[in-house]
Amino acid sequence: MSETKRVLLIVSGGIAAYKSLELVRGLRKQGTGVRAILTNAGAQFVTPMSLASLSGDTVYDDLFSLTEESGMGHIQLSRDADLLVVAPASADIMAKMAHGLANDLATTALLATDKPILIAPAMNVRMWEHPATQANLGVLTSRGVLAVGPEEGDLACGEFGMGRMAEPETIVAAINGFFLNGERLNGRHALVTSGPTHEAIDPVRYIANRSSGKQGHAIATALAALGARTTLVSGPTSLPDPPGVSVVRVQSARDMLDACEAALPADIAVCAAAVADWRSAGEAPEKMKKTAGEALAPLALEENPDILRTLGAAGNRRPGLLIGFAAETENVIENATKKRISKGCDWILANDVSQATGTFGGDENTIHLVDQAGVENWPRLSKSAVADRLADRIADTLEATA
Ligand code: CTP
Repeated sequence: MSETKRVLLIVSGGIAAYKSLELVRGLRKQGTGVRAILTNAGAQFVTPMSLASLSGDTVYDDLFSLTEESGMGHIQLSRDADLLVVAPASADIMAKMAHGLANDLATTALLATDKPILIAPAMNVRMWEHPATQANLGVLTSRGVLAVGPEEGDLACGEFGMGRMAEPETIVAAINGFFLNGERLNGRHALVTSGPTHEAIDPVRYIANRSSGKQGHAIATALAALGARTTLVSGPTSLPDPPGVSVVRVQSARDMLDACEAALPADIAVCAAAVADWRSAGEAPEKMKKTAGEALAPLALEENPDILRTLGAAGNRRPGLLIGFAAETENVIENATKKRISKGCDWILANDVSQATGTFGGDENTIHLVDQAGVENWPRLSKSAVADRLADRIADTLEATA
């Protein structure tokens, strides 16, 4: 690691809070800076004094924030950190994070930050397994929050099961892994397209498709997490901007192409957008009126530019590693193999988007990666796991050719 890293540690309530002292010690020992926020519930288990002496810094709590907000507010606390770590992360703080509650210093700092977050959940097995906690975890991981643990074992409540906080050395290893990973694509520029495009028919109607943008946004998040300067060119979606990513919002395929060309040069480009293949041949300037009992004459459509193909043929502006998707409903591998060649890209991530697979708009994806060497079949994964795996493969490939 090139410079001293700084962690903002949030200690929430739970018997595992005593282990956070060991975590602070482990981080300080290797030279990682630690500043801590102690929640009121956390303060029932460890004292501010013990955290302060181990971290070598002031410990911030609600009382402090009331009196000193002007000096060291919640914004500044997270601004100074490279990573926010919540350990232990109780069911309560996970729920608050998932829903954007900000009613104390810890949750305010978590809501106000654009820094990466790692949580180490710790709770009773039934609280962990409750659908509410699992749903909250799903929301958090889909936003790029990293989770380490919990582990299975004897719990403080006398029960046995999942819920014990990961051991401090496991959390230190996860933090180090994050920092090392965070530098793998340093100095690289990644361009990602995502979402559908909207092709106007008249001022109120448009041609669209079922793409949610979840896969493309997850890929931008994963590439940024590996340290790439990332530009996300997104069609209309309801998704929030991924943290640390520069987002250009567009409507139509032609706008998307312009934005992509303006973002070049790029070391990596991943075209995950479901670009509309056609647009209305003549956008009506006013709302088209219906005439009772009369069918509408067929809309004349004209072909949209193919963004992936254009990037593939961009000569010395071509992205170094160009990756496309193939959305297929039949002959998935065969069609994807043809698309890789015809669009001039290096890899194609083929997926079956038949209605029955639930891939379009859903949270999971089954990928077949087609490259020059052949086909790699991935298991069914969440879209964020697909993104992480793709980002790792990209980093491996660029490191091997560097
Ligand atoms: N793509 C693109 N611009 C388009 C159409 C597609 O950049 N106008 C990209 C997609 O982002 C994807 C790849 O091309 O990476 C393949 O998209 P897909 O919808 O599977 O294929 P099409 O090229 O549209 O071909 P078809 O609809 O005939 O299968």
